[in-house]
Amino acid sequence: MISPIGLFDSGVGGTTIWREVVRQLPWESTLYLADSLNAPYGEKSSEEIIALCEKNTEYLLDHHSKLIIVACNTATTNAITHLRAKYKVPFIGIEPAIKPAGLYSQTKTIGVLATQSTLKSAFFANTCQQLLDKGINVLKQEGIGLVPLIEEGKIDTPEMMVLLEQYLRPMVAEGIDYLVLGCTHYPYLTSLISEILPENVRIMDSAQAVAKQTERILSQNNLLAKKEEHVPSHLWLTNKNAEILQSFAPEGVRVLYEDF
Ligand code: DGL
Repeated sequence: MISPIGLFDSGVGGTTIWREVVRQLPWESTLYLADSLNAPYGEKSSEEIIALCEKNTEYLLDHHSKLIIVACNTATTNAITHLRAKYKVPFIGIEPAIKPAGLYSQTKTIGVLATQSTLKSAFFANTCQQLLDKGINVLKQEGIGLVPLIEEGKIDTPEMMVLLEQYLRPMVAEGIDYLVLGCTHYPYLTSLISEILPENVRIMDSAQAVAKQTERILSQNNLLAKKEEHVPSHLWLTNKNAEILQSFAPEGVRVLYEDF
């Protein structure tokens, strides 16, 4: 049996990471968990997030995942240290890409849109401090309400636009030249966000870096699938609404409801 790469998120958001992973590693099989029943994670305590991450990890391990991508900034910043200490499988995490954004910023002011639990985490505070020490100003904005709308498939809607305007305009006024999307759901909002941001503000996410790191770690552990070995298969599971998850799925992905 060929072991898949396992991925999980609080819902549909981690599929933005999945896309890049499959683009960079097209011969790998994947198993994706959308824990939409428990979304949003961003308003939960660290203890609650850790318990949900353990549940997802154990499901993925029971289904033979050879590596696990925590395709969620909130889960990574609150739980990855715990997961790495508890389970033997290699984990790849994702955190808001504020370091590269800070490095490239000309105005030395960057914005980050993320969940409350990510912005409150010690993990994030630590990275933020490193930037502050270099004289980079990091403007933090909680994306309250964005994830629930995306989870309902209400992306291109007036309610979404009202929230985005409210969150982004003040950061633009303060002179950001990079906006970091610190939640894996938010790349689905890129075209709406681009309508609000002036042209000089670049949008940054972490998907490419995560896929590159996945390849590196698989290779180091001698776990890379060989091209000729098998036809890759992709299964996405949700514990809430399979129709909604299906609407995010490209062709060739099997989407099923599962009580995990
Ligand atoms: N996709 C998530 C993240 O990257 C979590 C969103 C949420 O459930 O609040 O943070």
